[in-house]
Amino acid sequence: MPQIPEKIHELTVGQLSARSGAAVSALHFYEAKGLISSRRTTGNQRRYGRDTLRRVAFVRAAQRVGIPLATIRQALAQLPEERTPTNEDWARLSAAWRTELDERIKQLGRLRDHLTDCIGCGCLSLETCVLSNPDDAFGERMAGSRLLPVRNPAPDGDEA
Ligand code: FES
Repeated sequence: MPQIPEKIHELTVGQLSARSGAAVSALHFYEAKGLISSRRTTGNQRRYGRDTLRRVAFVRAAQRVGIPLATIRQALAQLPEERTPTNEDWARLSAAWRTELDERIKQLGRLRDHLTDCIGCGCLSLETCVLSNPDDAFGERMAGSRLLPVRNPAPDGDEA
């Protein structure tokens, strides 16, 4: 990634794209969603503050772990507007997501553990399947297409 000299305090969309690795279209999308902001020059060109680089990195990292854009926007709204966010501001933001990330990791672990059963099953039961209903309480205890009653074998050995 190209370095941007320290003396440059505002970036064009092309510079921001090149430095952050995000496509220009993605940056426009982030701006439309209120995740980043810019000012307009007299020639109606966008200029982004240097701290936007960190915002974009934060957005991309959060998206990579599956955090919804609305949640990302809420988190970014906690950053101070009157000054450039400090390392402590960013650290506080990341720490606040630890619980959410822990929960996502737990859900993914449960999906991984039950995936083999689901591949052979295919029912996608809303009652018991961890793929279709990841928070299902029964998913913690057992995998399977449904809760089957315990059968008593018929006296002659055949199942009823
Ligand atoms: S497909 Fe997941 S339990 Fe049937």
